[in-house]
Formats: sequence, C-alpha cells, structure tokens
Amino acid sequence: MQNKFTILLINGPNLNLLGSREKKIYGNISLSDLIKNLKIYAKKYHIKINHVQSNAEHILIDAIHNAKKIIDYIIINAAAFTHTSIALRDALLAIQIPFIEVHISNIYARENFRSHSWISDISNGVICGLGIDSYKWALKTAIKRLYKKIN
Ligand code: DQA
Repeated sequence: MQNKFTILLINGPNLNLLGSREKKIYGNISLSDLIKNLKIYAKKYHIKINHVQSNAEHILIDAIHNAKKIIDYIIINAAAFTHTSIALRDALLAIQIPFIEVHISNIYARENFRSHSWISDISNGVICGLGIDSYKWALKTAIKRLYKKIN
C-alpha cells in the first residue's frame, strides 16, 4: 500500500553523536537505530519518514524550506539551535507546516539557558524529558493528528 503521509524528522547539532554523547543525559541508542525504529513504527501506519540531521544551521533551514508542499508534519529536535536560532523559527513560520518540538532531556531541569526555546510558542506541542521515547510520543501524536486531520 502506498504511503498516506510523509513526516519530516529533523535533528540538530550533535545529535549525530547519540549513543556516545553524554550517555547519562541522552542514552545509549545511536541515531541510526533510533531512526530505524521510528521508520518501522511509521510504516505500519503507511507513513514515510524523511530524516535530516545536520550540525549546520543552513542545512536545517533548507530542509524546512524544501518541506513545503511535500511534507505533512514535522518533528524537530533542534538541539542547541532551539535556544539560539531565530532563523529556524522564521523558517518554520514561513512554511506553515504543523510541527512538534522534541527534546530527549528535560530542558527545564538543566542550565537556565536551555529553558528558553525560540520555537515552542509556534509549535503544535512540545515533548521533552522522556529520553529517547520523546520521539516515539511525538511520532504517535503526529500520526494520530494526521489521520484525524487536526494539527
Ligand atoms: C536537546 C537539549 C538541548 O538543550 C541540547 O543542546 C541538545 C539536545 C535534547 O534533546 O535534550 O543538543 O535538544
């Protein structure tokens, strides 16, 4: 059966190091295993996941621009750019595709500078602090909303 929807999953800087980076905070699972599992889950619902991870802000911005018309929903862990990037915020505002913001760690229980996100207030929801499961819950929610045609 053909895919019904496409979700763009965006991972920002340093998330390529998942599984080896600050394991107490970010866990043991590698990014490639995480993506593999999410894709398997999404496939059951006839949903394709396009994944982009980059350490460069402009690559993420380009991926967001290119999402227009081909992507139905976005799940984004902008990592450190969450706290710094008005450019990412503007890109997300420009394309008007609903998105869920994800964080592995509880950004409100860490250093003060992590408590501010430039994208939370324009998101359709924020999931943080559930470890790697944050992605799973974001995906479940996105799927539910896509099928119910709500944001
Ligand atoms: C993060 C939290 C950010 O503050 C941090 O810069 C990251 C990962 C998370 O998933 O918990 O790189 O987005």
